Amino acid sequence: MTVTIVGSQLGDEGKGGVVDVYGDAADVVARYQGGDNAGHTVVHDGKKYKLSLVPSGAVRGKIGVLGNGCVVNPETLFDEIDTLRERGLEPDVRVAERAHVILPYHRALDGIEEAEKEDLAAGTTKRGIGPTYEDKAGRRGVRIGDLLDPDVLRERLEYVVPQKKALAEEVFDKETGEAFDIDHLYETYREYGKRLEEEGMTVDCGTFLQERIDDGDNVMLEGAQGTSLDIDHGVYPYVTSSNPSSGGATVGTGLGPTVVGQGDVIGIVKAYLSRVGTGPLPTELGGVEDQTPDYDPEEGAGEDEEALATQIRDEGGEYGTVTGRPRRVGWLDMPMLRHATRANGFTGLAINHIDVLAGLDEVKVGHSYEFDGEEIFTVPPTTEQWGRCEATFKSFDGWPDVDWAEVADNGYEAIPENARTYLEYISDELDTPIYAVGVGPGRGETVIVENPYE
Ligand code: IMP
Repeated sequence: MTVTIVGSQLGDEGKGGVVDVYGDAADVVARYQGGDNAGHTVVHDGKKYKLSLVPSGAVRGKIGVLGNGCVVNPETLFDEIDTLRERGLEPDVRVAERAHVILPYHRALDGIEEAEKEDLAAGTTKRGIGPTYEDKAGRRGVRIGDLLDPDVLRERLEYVVPQKKALAEEVFDKETGEAFDIDHLYETYREYGKRLEEEGMTVDCGTFLQERIDDGDNVMLEGAQGTSLDIDHGVYPYVTSSNPSSGGATVGTGLGPTVVGQGDVIGIVKAYLSRVGTGPLPTELGGVEDQTPDYDPEEGAGEDEEALATQIRDEGGEYGTVTGRPRRVGWLDMPMLRHATRANGFTGLAINHIDVLAGLDEVKVGHSYEFDGEEIFTVPPTTEQWGRCEATFKSFDGWPDVDWAEVADNGYEAIPENARTYLEYISDELDTPIYAVGVGPGRGETVIVENPYE
């Protein structure tokens, strides 16, 4: 059977922790979209591993699969595998032959195009994700399977690279180097192809996973980013270029919707919001320069609100892992979650980080929006409409900071009562049961209410 893990908000909901906890019972963990734009830290046997591409299950002795819906940078992939090997692990990673390859010109163009877009820039991770998916849709991409065949690889590069070079030089007036050189790319990527082949890493993803399921294995399908970053269901154009929502789990692995639909689809919810990048955020607290639309850092959002934002940001460690830049933060947004629940068909919720809000006198939730004089309960379809929405808040009494590790040991009833009231409000509004509650960053700090594999 399958269990699908989906971010219900804007990424960084703590999916890795849930994959970790439930993944114990899984034999295979497959990612179905995205690439090295995702970042997760795995702690195993007291050691910390920072990964952006290799599925975290591979650190724990599971088979990690990068599905056909992923975009794969072979350089990142082999760097991560080599680092894990140097640290004594033997990760078993398979890559779909239908997955698309991120090439150096994709990364270069990601940076160039973001700089050109100004107000429309999504604040991308500049890993070449968008340009690679563009080439996939434009039917000029290079797939993992193409790296295994020298003639096909050369033919693909000879067609596409001159176009990319002209784009960079003639449209954007940029100098190009090795990243746009056919011979250099051919030599380098052919070597990656040989290594993928020698190490027996490539698979026909759908067939591979279906055979495992038929043999009785438990398969976990792991989404990266979150539903509001989904190219179809998110805050377009401030989105990633793939489908983190559960539909992506079937298209991005080659398993049928009826197969994925027989298993659980678990929505990972963070108890408040955080956002890297631009776009509307009706429940935002305070603001961050260059990310919050129309934010004036001189004026700010008022002393109390900025202080609250800083407190949540500090407690939750809401600073970019690479840049250290503050992330935008806000109260939980129920219209966003109702939209995600419908689009994904969640069967269960894992609600994380309730410990981060501990100690506040009052915890608020954006219950609905006021939109052009009307009360609405879900997210409107255009981003401009979303930008006009004002959150209508509900208020909850805060809960104390407690020994969360002890709470995790003692189970759901040990969660402070006011926090349970908050959790149950979310579950009732979304008409979806709570499967797990994250009460701290550690692997042991999760209250498990339901195990989908049992
Ligand atoms: P891209 O995926 O690099 O193209 O970036 C597109 C948008 O998605 C930007 O707003 C990024 O900040 C956001 N994004 C991409 N990956 C993540 C993630 O793992 N967590 C949170 N935001 C992300």
